[in-house]
Amino acid sequence: MTAKLPAHVAIVMDGNGRWASKRLLPHNAGHRAGAQNLRTLSEEIEKLGIQYLTVYALSTENFSRPEKEVQGLLKLMHEYFQQYIEDSKKNDMRMRFIGDTTRFEPELQQKIETLKTLTREKKGLQVTLAINYGGRDELVRAARKLVREAASGNLSPGDINEETLARTLDTFPTPYPDLLIRTGGEKRISNYMLWQLAYAEMYFSDVLWPDFGAKDLQGALTWFAGRQRRYGGR
Ligand code: FPP
Repeated sequence: MTAKLPAHVAIVMDGNGRWASKRLLPHNAGHRAGAQNLRTLSEEIEKLGIQYLTVYALSTENFSRPEKEVQGLLKLMHEYFQQYIEDSKKNDMRMRFIGDTTRFEPELQQKIETLKTLTREKKGLQVTLAINYGGRDELVRAARKLVREAASGNLSPGDINEETLARTLDTFPTPYPDLLIRTGGEKRISNYMLWQLAYAEMYFSDVLWPDFGAKDLQGALTWFAGRQRRYGGR
């Protein structure tokens, strides 16, 4: 196996739509295949001994997609979260969520709470699903929290530093990603973990997400093992 394994892998699962179009299937069939691939690849990632996985499942901007696609994605979440609840009886994965989940209907919010509670003590792969997530939105919400604390007299400007800001982010206490993988050929981060990805190594693959398998993952990990991380130093 690769000598230097990332502790935390983040993925932008892009290319579901094109995967579906190539097969003359509706866009949502691509998301379904993508959700299935996430299940398969999470197991692979856990087997390799990677500790953290954070995936971009729904961005704040995705809500502006056609209503039918948004509804399809929400339905998929209902279904898969239920499946994850069942899975939690047999596996050791912990599920966390980042993003503004207050926008979801109560039944979906309930499933999210159930999953968080059921997997709280799990020590296997720590999976974080970004849903209704945007890096800028997360920073705005963090700024609001800090201002609220300041207004109540519990925080002064000098108390705000990188550590206190990091503590107010959705991702806390998960460590920052070491490796970002984006599938589907685009080379951008699309408002994903703007703060947390500051020193992540970035790997871009042309493979469409539903086709991104164990061998493709291995390619990304081998590439990562060859990187020299300097964090701005020499
Ligand atoms: C980008 O593909 C992908 C998304 C907008 C959503 C990703 C969601 C999943 C993989 C499903 C996850 C679901 C659960 C239940 C965790 P795109 O539609 O932008 O693809 P395209 O660029 O080819 O059109």
